Amino acid sequence: MELSLKSGDLATRKTPCLLLGVIGERQLPAPAQGVDADSGGYLTRILARGDLEAEAGRTLLLHEVPGLKAERVLLVSLGPQDKYDRKAYLKALAAASGRLQEIRVKEALSTLPASAPASLDFALALRDAVTTALDKGYRYDRTKSEKKPPLALQALHFWLGGEERKAQAREALGQGQALATGVSLAKELGNLPGNLCTPAYLADQARDLAKSFPALKVEVLEEEDMAKLGMGALLSVSRGSRQPAKLIVMNYRGDKKDAKPLVLVGKGLTFDAGGISLKPGPDMDQMKFDMCGAASVLGALRAALELKLPLNLIGVIPASENLPDGAANKPGDIVTSLSGQTIEILNTDAEGRLILCDALTYCERFEPAAVIDIATLTGACAIALGKVASGLFTADEALAADLLAAGERANDRAWRLPLWDDYQPLLDSNFADMANIGPREGGAISGACFLSRYAKKFPWAHLDIAGTAWLTGKEKGGTGRPVPLLVEFLLQRAGAAGRA
Ligand code: BES
Ligand code: MN
Ligand code: ZN
Repeated sequence: MELSLKSGDLATRKTPCLLLGVIGERQLPAPAQGVDADSGGYLTRILARGDLEAEAGRTLLLHEVPGLKAERVLLVSLGPQDKYDRKAYLKALAAASGRLQEIRVKEALSTLPASAPASLDFALALRDAVTTALDKGYRYDRTKSEKKPPLALQALHFWLGGEERKAQAREALGQGQALATGVSLAKELGNLPGNLCTPAYLADQARDLAKSFPALKVEVLEEEDMAKLGMGALLSVSRGSRQPAKLIVMNYRGDKKDAKPLVLVGKGLTFDAGGISLKPGPDMDQMKFDMCGAASVLGALRAALELKLPLNLIGVIPASENLPDGAANKPGDIVTSLSGQTIEILNTDAEGRLILCDALTYCERFEPAAVIDIATLTGACAIALGKVASGLFTADEALAADLLAAGERANDRAWRLPLWDDYQPLLDSNFADMANIGPREGGAISGACFLSRYAKKFPWAHLDIAGTAWLTGKEKGGTGRPVPLLVEFLLQRAGAAGRA
C-alpha cells in the first residue's frame, strides 16, 4: 500500500474518500470543522439527524457532499469527548479500515491522526494509523488453495494539518511501515504449520533476511557444531526429533564497532508435543505457535534493518522440535548444559528453558549491553495474565522500566512479575544442580528463575509470551506480539526517543 502525507485545503482535494472524525454525536474536531464550513454546514445538518451514534468506531458514509471535491466522506465516530482516549482512537481507526475495505475504494485521505486525542502525540497517532491500516491487509492464505483477494485500498494519504509536522510525520510513517512488516512476518511464521515451519525453515528465513539486507550477517550452527561446544541441554531436546536443531545467529552492526550489542533470543520450538511427558490431545495443534518468540526476533530485526537503526543488534534463535521418540529425553534424565551446570529433566515438556539456557550461555561471547529473551515458556503465565499482557521478568530496574514503557507506547503491554531469590529453591534437585521444573504454583516464575541461572554475566530480561503470541477460537492465529514492544524498545535505544 502506498502511504503519503498531504497538506493544504481539504475541500478542494480530489479523493475517492475523505475520512473525518466526529466526537460525541455531532462535535467536529478541527479538520472536520473546516470541511463543514466549506460544505455550507451540510455535515452539521446531517449529524443533527442523529444517524451517527456516539460510540467509537461507528461510521456514516456520505456521497457527493456539497462544496467538496471528495467523492465520498466517511464520518468516523471517535466516541464521547470524555472517553476519547487512545483506545477509542484505535477502535475508530480499525473500524475505518474495515469500512474502507467494504466499500472497496482504491484510495482514501484520512484526517484521523490530525484528530487524535490530546494525550497522544501526532507522530504516534500517525504511526497507529499506519500500523492499523497495514495490519488490516494481513491475511493468511499460504496453505489455502484459494488465495484471498488483496486489500482494495492501494493508497492511503494522511492529512498533516500543519507543515511544521512534516519531518516528524515522515519518520513516523517509516516507523509504522517497518513495524507492520515486522508484525506480519511474525504472524506469518507463527501461522505456518509445524511440518512447513521447521528449524531448517527458520534458518532459511534468517538467510533470506540477510539476502535482502546485506548489513545482516547470518551464521547457522548445526547439531555437530553445538555438540562440539557442549550444548547438552539444547541437543537433548532435539534428540527425539527427526528435524535437526539449528542455532541461528543473526548479527547486525549499525553502530560503532566497539559499541556493545543488544541481543534478542527467541524460543524457536517449531512444534512442542511435550516429548515423553506428552501433552493432552485437545488443542495440541496450537503448539505450532511455540516458535513465536523466534518469529518476534525475526520480525523485530527486520523492522530494525528497514529503519537502519544505529544499533548493534544480534538475534539468536535456538530452534528445535519436542517430540516423543526412543531417543527422546526421559523424566529423570540428567543433562549437562553449555554452562557446565547439570539439569535433572523431571518433565520433558519444560523444554523451552532447556534450549534457551544454552542459547543464553552462548550469548556471553558477545559481551552484550543487554539480553532479552522472548519465549512462549509457560502455560502458567497465560493463566496469570491472560491474553492482555506479556510477562516480564528481570532483576534490572532500568531494563524493566524501559521495556514496560516501550510496551505502553507500542500498545503491546507487558506486566512485571517477581524474580526474587525466594523462588530459586523451587528448582532444587537431589541428583543434579537443578531440576527443570518447580511445582505447579508459581510456574511462570520458576521458569524465569531457571533461565536467570544462565544469564548472570549480562543485564537480562525475559518476556513470557505464552498468553499473548496467538489468539484462539474464531480468531485463531499469530498476533505478531511482542514485535511492537521490541521495536519501540529498539527505537528508544537508538536515540529516536520521544519522536515516534
Ligand atoms: N510451550 C509450552 C508452554 C505453553 C503452554 C505456552 C500452553 C502456551 C500455551 C512449554 O514448553 C511447556 O510445555 N511448559 C510447561 C511447563 C511445565 C511442564 C513446568 C507448561 O506450561 O505446562
Ligand atoms: Mn513444552
Ligand atoms: Zn514449549
